[in-house]
Amino acid sequence: MARRPPSFVCQNCGAVYGRWQGKCDSCGEWNTIAEENAAAIIAPGPGRPPRKGRKFALEPLAGESPEAPRLASGIAEFDRVTGGGFVRGSVLLVGGDPGIGKSTLLIQAAASLARAGQRSVYISGEEAIAQVRLRAGRLGLSAAPVELAAETSVEDIVATLSEGKTPRLVVVDSIQTMWTDAVESAPGTVSQVRSAAQVLIRYAKRSGAAVILVGHVTKDGQIAGPRVVEHMVDAVLSFEGEGPHQFRILRAIKNRFGPTDEIGVFEMTGAGLAEVANPSELFLSERDLGTPGTAVFAGIEGTRPLLVEMQALVAPTSLGTPRRAVVGWDPSRLSMVLAVLEAHCGVRLSGHDVYLNVAGGLRIQEPAADLAAAAALVSSLTNAPLPPDAVYFGEVSLSGVVRPVGQTPLRLKEAQKLGFTRAVLPEAARGEVNEPGLTLAPVGILANLVADVASRGSESGRGVAKLRRQDG
Ligand code: TYD
Ligand code: MG
Repeated sequence: MARRPPSFVCQNCGAVYGRWQGKCDSCGEWNTIAEENAAAIIAPGPGRPPRKGRKFALEPLAGESPEAPRLASGIAEFDRVTGGGFVRGSVLLVGGDPGIGKSTLLIQAAASLARAGQRSVYISGEEAIAQVRLRAGRLGLSAAPVELAAETSVEDIVATLSEGKTPRLVVVDSIQTMWTDAVESAPGTVSQVRSAAQVLIRYAKRSGAAVILVGHVTKDGQIAGPRVVEHMVDAVLSFEGEGPHQFRILRAIKNRFGPTDEIGVFEMTGAGLAEVANPSELFLSERDLGTPGTAVFAGIEGTRPLLVEMQALVAPTSLGTPRRAVVGWDPSRLSMVLAVLEAHCGVRLSGHDVYLNVAGGLRIQEPAADLAAAAALVSSLTNAPLPPDAVYFGEVSLSGVVRPVGQTPLRLKEAQKLGFTRAVLPEAARGEVNEPGLTLAPVGILANLVADVASRGSESGRGVAKLRRQDG
């Protein structure tokens, strides 16, 4: 039989080349291309006769399908993100940076199910049994009847799990450590990860067990290796958090059985991950009251309102091209808001560096944050603190008009609940709502808000200058 030529596969994006090269043309990464033996994963060679196909019945699109049976994990924030629990026979990929808390979350979920009398299995390919036990002990979960193994061969895992009662949950930590006999490449390579995942996915579909695969992400935020698994699994969840913060956010990136806009919020404590039922309180807990450059945004994440502080710093630059840096928000939206401020509101920012940060490590995706961002920016530029009891939301159009956004009543209710007394919102939303205890300050065009903020600035700006002089 003719020897198949070697193939070179990019370990970042999975592109295949006939020869080695330093840079992947497909994703632009350097030194990610490695030789892999693809022979074993390519279907019948010239020597083998093609298999005669088996006939199957075709089904109409309309018809009765039983509602996907779900199994609630018992961790409400987790269930919120999956859309109500683990679906039988489904495969879930949980990605995140090393050390973010994936293993902690999943051992907690496995223990919670096991305690509820469901068979749950935790397979660690990264840690020894003793290490997993140590963590479980620290979390106070030692008594939960989770079945534990430290294994990396998917054939062995499937053979073991196929015996006895089908588990309801199987956690595989992590997919990068798994390997299959069917492929010759080293564990962690694209073809190994893909083939190992295929074996586990087939097992899930056949047995009806819910399988969770853990995947580590690379520096650019993509799930390495598992990126090629993303399209094979039913749901992809990403576990995120900023290093120094104790908050952890679980977000659905893809979900065949539920929403993708819900987030689950956790706090890393000495006793593992604790659910945060009211994230607004947490995100506002370390607020610098009355500092210029901060505005509270009344946002919505999925079905839940979420108040979060947006912080801006606008400072004179010494660079030819001023810096624009943003953490937790879309850089192109920041550019847009800056352009509108320059073009329609008479705010000169070309000589200033601009930094924008969403407090607490949260990532905001709503355009409704435009107004809060603009308020924070102008507040910083004019050194005018915004009223500490006000929330802001509204989308800013390129013409400088403040446009209405969805879910106004929900945003206002949350603001009122957390003790805010004033809401700055789009003019068009005025008639829509009436939240007792909240003073509404509608704005029609962004220029009006800028004028408002700047007029507060002249006073307090002088105040700050006086204070400094006294200090000196
Ligand atoms: P881990 O779940 O091992 O992360 P991953 O599997 O994503 O790599 O979590 C490791 C971090 O979590 C580690 O830095 C310590 C911290 N941690 C706590 O703060 N409290 C705890 O109870 C546990 C178990 C871990
Ligand atoms: Mg881990």
